[in-house]
Amino acid sequence: MDKLVVKGGARLTGRVKVSGSKNSALPILAASLLTPEKCVIHNVPDLSDIRFMLEILRQLGAEVTFDHGTVTTRAEKVISEVPYDLVRKMRASICVLGPIVARNGHATISEPGGCSIGDRPIDIHLRGLAELGAASHSEGGNVHIPKAELIGKEIFLGGKFGSTVLGTDNVMMAATAAKGHTIIESAACEPEVKDLADFLIKMGAKITGHGTRRLEIDGVSGLGGCEHTVIPDRIEAGTFLVAALITQGDVFLAGADPDHLVNVLDRMKSCGANIKANGDGIQVSASRKLASIDLVTETYPGFPTDMQAQLCALMSVTPGISAITEKIFPSRFMHVSELRRMGAQIELEGATAILHGVDHLSGAPVMASDLRASAALVLAGLVAKGTTEVNRVYHIDRGYEHIDEKLRKLGAEIERVR
Ligand code: EPZ
Repeated sequence: MDKLVVKGGARLTGRVKVSGSKNSALPILAASLLTPEKCVIHNVPDLSDIRFMLEILRQLGAEVTFDHGTVTTRAEKVISEVPYDLVRKMRASICVLGPIVARNGHATISEPGGCSIGDRPIDIHLRGLAELGAASHSEGGNVHIPKAELIGKEIFLGGKFGSTVLGTDNVMMAATAAKGHTIIESAACEPEVKDLADFLIKMGAKITGHGTRRLEIDGVSGLGGCEHTVIPDRIEAGTFLVAALITQGDVFLAGADPDHLVNVLDRMKSCGANIKANGDGIQVSASRKLASIDLVTETYPGFPTDMQAQLCALMSVTPGISAITEKIFPSRFMHVSELRRMGAQIELEGATAILHGVDHLSGAPVMASDLRASAALVLAGLVAKGTTEVNRVYHIDRGYEHIDEKLRKLGAEIERVR
């Protein structure tokens, strides 16, 4: 198993190209199952999660090619059963459910298993589909949706933690094939949800309100193929932003969209970062030690939960006391015990991490547990004294394209050890 060996101390400078968004590409690839025609999708990042989604599409009957960031798909026929072996490896595979129900009117999919970032049920997905007429029952670890006619309806899709991203995607995709008008209240409005809606509209779907909490969809009799370019990855951009700040560097995030990072940029400015954004990207630097801040993760446009671990790494070496509260996945703190191994002083009180900034961290062998936690450990390694070995980096390869090469280009001393 690969590991990343990071020698701390280098100040990062230069330009890094932000890749296409993983969390946008995955549901868009699933949406290509909605049509028998060819779809061409550009700016798709080369990640293990993406390759896995392409494998799922093939197993469901689609012809798929992937070449230099461009995916072509053609799903003349789609089978309706999604086996456990496919779903257990990647939770996001759940977003093929909406397209299969829309295409075939019925589906069987394995219940997604556990996840290291916390409890992740799909009850809201199933509730939304049932409202459209696709009621389900669970049996033998599978969710069964028997043959159903989809009828448009007004649906409230909010849950205990607010809106659901992939839940909104699934119900929106199913509603494109429902008879009549659907309204989704408390819809997720993440940029990735809006990008999926833009893709569906190019296929011929009738959607308004995308990017807001109230989505309206008029069902159509069929969708066609289209060509689309995936938006840049705001979480990858945010991670490199923290890499620049934690090393007191000066980095240009080429292709990053500042409109997708308003909250993150605002929080970073409030702790002393210099940030200049223009149509080509974001320039970020820190000319002095930053100031500690408190933050709470929320659904978009709030502070993203997928940036929480990276902020823990940054605040663990920022003078003062910070309180970081996780409101989306309350137990998403697997990175804390590993940061403590590097000398961070962090107390956990329920869903809040209290960080006492220390002068320095010390390099150590650490274990990655999930995608964003592993990114936080690499960031901590960039500033730690000595060498940090981040093990199980297959987690990081799920969501960061060639992260070690990109960091090396910015001056980091990092290498991948097979
Ligand atoms: C998406 O997951 C992202 N994944 C996650 O990114 C991200 O953390 C999450 O949204 C929140 O922003 C992809 O886009 C592929 P949710 P999703 O449904 O859609 C609860 C990463 O690091 N909930 O919005 O699965 C749920 O448990 C990944 O790239 C229910 O209770 O997240 C959570 O507490 C990790 N019932 C909250 O809602 C449901 O049916 C938000 O989850 C659905 C969700």
